[in-house]
Amino acid sequence: MGNEEQSGPKTGAEKIAPPTGKLGVMVVGLGAVATTFIAGVEAVRRGLAKPIGSLTQMGTIRLGKRTDNKSPLIRDFVPIAQLNDLVFTGWDIFEDNVYESAAHAKVLDKDLVEQLKPYLETIKPLPAVFDQYYVKRLHGTHVKKGKNKRDLAEQVRADIRAFKKTVDRVVMIWCGSTEIFLEPTAVHQSIEAFEKGLETDDIGIAPSQIYAYAALSEGVPFANGAPNLTVDTPALIELSKRNSAPICGKDFKTGQTFMKTVLAPAFKARLLGVSGWYSTNILGNRDGEVLDDPESFKTKEESKLGSLEYIFQPELYPDLYKNIFHKVRINYYPPRGDNKEGWDNIDIFGWLGYPMQIKVDFLCRDSILAAPIALDLVLFLDLDKRTPELRSIGIQEWLSFYLKSPQTREGLYPEHDLFIQSMKLKNTLRHIMGADLITHLGLEYYD
Ligand SMILES: NC(=O)c1ccc[n+]([C@@H]2O[C@H](COP(=O)([O-])OP(=O)(O)OC[C@H]3O[C@@H](n4cnc5c(N)ncnc54)[C@H](O)[C@@H]3O)[C@@H](O)[C@H]2O)c1
Repeated sequence: MGNEEQSGPKTGAEKIAPPTGKLGVMVVGLGAVATTFIAGVEAVRRGLAKPIGSLTQMGTIRLGKRTDNKSPLIRDFVPIAQLNDLVFTGWDIFEDNVYESAAHAKVLDKDLVEQLKPYLETIKPLPAVFDQYYVKRLHGTHVKKGKNKRDLAEQVRADIRAFKKTVDRVVMIWCGSTEIFLEPTAVHQSIEAFEKGLETDDIGIAPSQIYAYAALSEGVPFANGAPNLTVDTPALIELSKRNSAPICGKDFKTGQTFMKTVLAPAFKARLLGVSGWYSTNILGNRDGEVLDDPESFKTKEESKLGSLEYIFQPELYPDLYKNIFHKVRINYYPPRGDNKEGWDNIDIFGWLGYPMQIKVDFLCRDSILAAPIALDLVLFLDLDKRTPELRSIGIQEWLSFYLKSPQTREGLYPEHDLFIQSMKLKNTLRHIMGADLITHLGLEYYD
């Protein structure tokens, strides 16, 4: 007889080390997303606001049968760090502390930022690893100097080691600008080639890769919130496994792609065809300014375009999805600041090929959507690091839920459907805690 609950191999929660002590969070790039994340955590800690949008803080997880009525909070089910135990530091190419940067980003109300000022101004950026070749629109002033990329990586490692002395565990997250589009080359094929490339200042090694290399070398998990290549190379995946430093990427799934990965699976489930999907965005923050550069836009475009191709599987459904015209535009429009507007025009067709249209106009707040994702990724990567079964596997595909362009093992296509991603995430939590997986079969209720 069918069982809604199928037992997976049990590892047992007792094997996961408890989250005792302080969790150090090293944020690369203290801009709009990072400051909204840090200020938000502090506001929640003080009881000034609720952590809306965060699965680790507000989400529940069903255990057992539907008739068991057992759905604890995720944070009561898995041993994740408490918000009170998070300690922040970071790097930026500008000297502004987190208070100044949050005020500049204008995402949060002035009143809230002023209330949090004494705390936020204590977080001052360390000098960054930066090279304008990789982010054309920015001119960094607060940057490290070194004789080559190897030397810069050593300086970041020294920053990590110094921070480690003040906390119990460390996680790193990239909230920095989008770099130019790079593809893996020979230098990315092995740890040895990469290390040689650091010595010779190989052009294929961007700053984000230097931070990531430093983190992984120190056994520190790394999340990539931008679409940059960063840890998506054989060399850094190998380093991640070798040093039990979990990784995930790329690019926070916040506004338009979030909507796409909800709508596209619905069309596919109902076998509705799609002939065109035109997406355009206007945004006026620094991210928008950086993405106004064609080379950074190319990186973002690749990340945004991928999802539909994988969800629709045109090779399986040629009559429905073979000829989709998919276009993504991003336009820098300063008056809107961080409040992005994303329009989608979707041309679909139904029974006998009759056409229909859907329009989506999402007036979203980019960093408000990204901040809880940054929080969850940090907390889950720390959980990964303490979980024997997960810490040495490299890519944490179960975190695809949060990412626009999920990193997967070579040869494995990424899962973009938000609801499959959500199920995968929750089943991974059940699995590592030794609970039964949920398949939603449910025949036993009708025995
Ligand atoms: N806001 C969103 O919803 C969202 C969604 C998905 C992805 N992202 C990505 O997240 C990243 C951050 O977005 P944001 O809106 O906070 O942008 P932002 O421009 O406000 O912040 C980026 C910060 O990174 C700093 N920086 C750039 N290069 C650096 C380096 N090498 N070292 C240290 N600091 C560096 C910049 O000075 C800036 O302060 C971008 O890559 C963006 O594309 C944002």
